[in-house]
Amino acid sequence: MAAPEPARPHAHLHLAGFFGFGPAYVWSEAPGPHVYYDFAAWRRLAATAERGLFSTLFLGDSQRLREHLGRVTDHSVTGRPDQLVLFAHLAAVTERIGLVATLNTTFTDPADLARRLSTVDLLSGGRAGWNVVTTDNDWTGENFRRGAEVTHDDRYRHAAEHLGTVEALWSGWPPGAVADATDAPAWSRPAAITPVVRGARRARPALPPSAQGRPVLFQAGESPQGREFAARHAQGVFSRYLRFDEALAFADDLRARLVRHGRPADDIRIFPATRVILGDTDAEAREKAAWFRDRTWSERRIRSVVEAVWGHDLSDHDVDGPLPASDPVAATQTLTHGVVNTSDRPLRTAAAWRELAAARGFSMRDLVLHLNDAVEFVGTPSAVADELTRYVRAGALDGLNLQPNAVPDGFDDVVDRLVPALQDRGAYRTAYEGTTLRENLGLLPAVADRAPAVPG
Ligand SMILES: Cc1cc2nc3c(=O)[nH]c(=O)nc-3n(C[C@H](O)[C@H](O)[C@H](O)COP(=O)(O)O)c2cc1C
Repeated sequence: MAAPEPARPHAHLHLAGFFGFGPAYVWSEAPGPHVYYDFAAWRRLAATAERGLFSTLFLGDSQRLREHLGRVTDHSVTGRPDQLVLFAHLAAVTERIGLVATLNTTFTDPADLARRLSTVDLLSGGRAGWNVVTTDNDWTGENFRRGAEVTHDDRYRHAAEHLGTVEALWSGWPPGAVADATDAPAWSRPAAITPVVRGARRARPALPPSAQGRPVLFQAGESPQGREFAARHAQGVFSRYLRFDEALAFADDLRARLVRHGRPADDIRIFPATRVILGDTDAEAREKAAWFRDRTWSERRIRSVVEAVWGHDLSDHDVDGPLPASDPVAATQTLTHGVVNTSDRPLRTAAAWRELAAARGFSMRDLVLHLNDAVEFVGTPSAVADELTRYVRAGALDGLNLQPNAVPDGFDDVVDRLVPALQDRGAYRTAYEGTTLRENLGLLPAVADRAPAVPG
């Protein structure tokens, strides 16, 4: 019997070069974590990604060293440079690739953030994006204030207000508000530039629109509030769902939410995080994957994944033994782990992990490595290209937030071997479509730039 026609038979895959810092990389040159702060390494990753026609680079954020059980983590390097400064540098050595920065709404000021993002957007010729997050931990807050925990609901309420101000600032400077000739009677039409009044705040737009109007908005956060936030405002989503059925269910849920907000269902690009490991044969690819896994998954890191859910120290548990017999305690979580997690998410995660471990006879180590394997594509270039084509054509995803395995040469294999295999299947671009991120993602104008829907 012929296979059923896929939902999107001509869809193309987007690739985003993702870098999250942390313990997930092998340092192949200039060994040591200082490679994270070496501009030559960044330039090499960006140049390779652009040679491979990636739609964008994408950075995660943490304004403070990551903590685990109330202490700075000792199993990863997490000091991150300021993304907009780094992207300003990368904009100068690239031409087409997008630059999506993760910046949170809880610990930033809207007027300052709007201006800094616009600066990168203007200087890059319209290639900037903003991944709007609320930041889920309390330790970051200690950089800014003491002891005042912000609840999950408050974070999202504040995010809507913050983004509303940023959007209004970007809308407040219309095209043509600055003269295009130095001998014009007035350099600018200040009356056209609208201030944004929010309570005691009276902010003024700082910069004109860019070649793509304004930065493309992304979102990362998977609670119902997070998904609604994306459905209202975002044109890209950074997700965690990569197993085919879960990815499709997430994409269907999100697209249905967009439609409920009066938007076309395909007005969003969904990018789950992943890694790709290629070999000439399936066996060689699996051997390579095992090699990377042994180097990046220390016993300490494996245990920390389980501790993050259980919320307390498990150093007296053998990672080759079973999951803890006791349940996670949500209250302990908030105090020790720092994550503002008042939901039953840890309990649900623990229940799902226990069920899986019981069914498969998994130790803690087996379970964590199994979860890791589920977010990787491992195989020959043609097998991985077939699988990715199936995902994108079924509508389970639009792109991949692809982590390199090695720094700084970790995208080489993907660009030299996977991209051509995808192109052979008609599932990947053969040239950039435009010069801006919005054009290269095939997006409509920003939601905030559209005429309001006529109430029907
Ligand atoms: C895939 C993914 C990536 C994220 N990346 C970041 C990040 O880099 N920095 C950050 O502060 N928060 C990040 N977040 C968390 C967001 O801050 C999010 O707002 C938080 O998880 C609370 O939302 P939620 O309960 O809706 O998931 C990420 C969340 C997801 C799902």
